[in-house]
Amino acid sequence: MLVNKEIEVLPSSDYEDFSNGWEAIASKFISIATWEIGAATVQDWSKSLQPGQIVLDVGCGFGGPYTKALINKGIKICGIDASKTLIQEYQNRFPDVIVKCEAAEHSPFFGREFDGILSVGLIFLLSHDDQILVLQKMANALKEGGKLLFSSPYQICDWDDLSTGRKSISLGKEMYVSVLQKHGLILIDEDTDEGENHYFNFQKMDAL
Ligand SMILES: C[S@@+](CC[C@H](N)C(=O)[O-])C[C@H]1O[C@@H](n2cnc3c(N)ncnc32)[C@H](O)[C@@H]1O
Repeated sequence: MLVNKEIEVLPSSDYEDFSNGWEAIASKFISIATWEIGAATVQDWSKSLQPGQIVLDVGCGFGGPYTKALINKGIKICGIDASKTLIQEYQNRFPDVIVKCEAAEHSPFFGREFDGILSVGLIFLLSHDDQILVLQKMANALKEGGKLLFSSPYQICDWDDLSTGRKSISLGKEMYVSVLQKHGLILIDEDTDEGENHYFNFQKMDAL
């Protein structure tokens, strides 16, 4: 059982910024982010989840355009994000959600098990090796039958992130499938939202 009060919301004073530029623009992001892009895709994904099931949102920001709908459905969310400002804002908006300011690369949350794992707008911010590391951690933290939805372009490419100016990298569909297959996940669906963001929907197969 996860109890919110067990979780420290703010990082200690020796906060190390692993947010790939997002902490620096967090206040601006909070003030301008009013869009609904991606909400329908996540809602569609959540149709297979039941009330009471637990979803880990990796790189949760201050709550995505999809967060309220998941909560209204009775899904229990745990969120991690490396920006302390965004995590504080998340906790202000959704006081009952368990959130923690920590880097996906080091998060102890991956020691737990989840019915679903969601990661919108994060994977491609990480280096090649950290993408593989975090995807492996996600795969291991999924229950059998659990679903993983994450966004990244399907083609191998790199570009400068419009918000932060930092380099983003997609390893491409083939690599994502290959990494996750080794951990028992298969690609069951793909989607592209109204903002042209591509999503991969994987499921962890039951062990034989
Ligand atoms: C494009 S935003 C997406 C936020 C949210 N998922 C949404 O859809 O609104 C990317 C998020 O990833 C977070 N982030 C960046 N690097 C991270 C890391 N290494 N570990 C955890 N979160 C990270 C940023 O702080 C930011 O909140």
